[in-house]
Amino acid sequence: MVILNNNHKNGGRPRFDTGLYAHVAGWGMAVPENVLTNEDIEAFLETSDEWIRTRTGIRERRIAGERESTASLGLRAAQQALEVADILPVELDMVIVATSTPEHIFPSTASLIQDQLGASRAGAFDLSAACSGFVYAVDMAAQAIRSGSIETALVVGAETMTRVMDWQDRSTSILFGDGAGAIVLKSSEIEGGVLSAVLRSDGSGCDLLGIPTVGSQDVLLSPEMSQNGHLKMHKMFMHGSEVFKFATRVIGDSILEALDKAGLTLDDVDLIVPHQANDRILQSAARALKVDKDLFMSNVERYGNTSAASIPIALCEALEQGRVEDGDVLVFVGFGGGLTWASMVVQWGVPDEDMQTHRFSKQRRKLSYIGARWRSRAIRTRRNLNETIDRIRPGGGRLKRLRHKADQHEDFD
Ligand code: ACO
Repeated sequence: MVILNNNHKNGGRPRFDTGLYAHVAGWGMAVPENVLTNEDIEAFLETSDEWIRTRTGIRERRIAGERESTASLGLRAAQQALEVADILPVELDMVIVATSTPEHIFPSTASLIQDQLGASRAGAFDLSAACSGFVYAVDMAAQAIRSGSIETALVVGAETMTRVMDWQDRSTSILFGDGAGAIVLKSSEIEGGVLSAVLRSDGSGCDLLGIPTVGSQDVLLSPEMSQNGHLKMHKMFMHGSEVFKFATRVIGDSILEALDKAGLTLDDVDLIVPHQANDRILQSAARALKVDKDLFMSNVERYGNTSAASIPIALCEALEQGRVEDGDVLVFVGFGGGLTWASMVVQWGVPDEDMQTHRFSKQRRKLSYIGARWRSRAIRTRRNLNETIDRIRPGGGRLKRLRHKADQHEDFD
């Protein structure tokens, strides 16, 4: 039996045909140690702490060190989430990483994290929906869980935005920071968890923010073209005031639509965990919804905009501050590049699993991480060795084995 410590508040919540619900069972976050304050930025850019604070609410942000990356931050957040959920990596069926700054176009950052965790039974993919990516990814995982096709999923939002900043562009470089957050979603027969989601896109806003990089169109950009269009390869561009207007327009409606889909109203909401872009955007959304600004969780002051990582990081800090209790109704809302936007209603309550706690699970997780590292290295070393042998002995080694196999097939035919 699965037990949920829950004081369910209402009877209007959706029931899913399969009788399965997707609950948040674990969470974690990771941010780099390096802090870049507004005063630090003043030293190399024509701006001021006062301007940045009054226009955005940001005081400082974290900057990934040389040895840190989207995958390494994502991995740390994921390991914490697995710890809280008390599950082994091998129990994961799916790993999704929402990011706009993946390690590579492919292999996916999700595959790298899956490998480093030792999540050997999981499928893995990256999801690109900019700052809305985390909400999109949680919805994909929740739908797979509710359909019964998987039981356990890891969803990570991870970014190294400062690697794609044009540090001479004062309208964008002051806004962004690096970090990662993750949650584990688990199947349960207890009602609650992810109740509804509204995902939207308006690609006509494709020229308002983006990162020209190794895409089928972007590779055709000549240096002159990019300069004329004020685009720099691998650097983010943004028309801030247009994005601001778009964000303030969509947040309120999107939240109300998701609540309506869940059979709830604003009065039922205990906390809104929004994408952390700009404190003024949150003030404006609170005014539009006629709710107290404190209903919105905000930590933009200390991390800036960490894109797809900002919602799970804010969620972790809300939990740490005791702002979330079992039975609470939370709303996640994201908005950003695409343009995209997304809202989601979650009834909080960690399922008290059918006592399937693993003995020595902490140690087994650690062993899994060490084993995963060695396994991955061993496979790559063996592959490289085979290639070297094939090069040294043309016609021998692997080639010979393949021919032998083919001969065997012919004999069989
Ligand atoms: N320091 C000092 N002055 C500045 C700075 C700066 N860092 N940046 C811009 N200015 C100046 C401009 O040059 C302009 O000067 P001018 O009037 O002489 O031309 C003036 O300040 C006003 O510029 P605006 O761009 O109109 O300033 P605004 O009040 O709109 O604030 C900001 C800019 C903070 C970028 C705001 O538009 C914003 O937050 N936009 C939304 C960003 C966002 O939410 N992004 C989310 C999605 S991100 C994603 O999906 C990856």
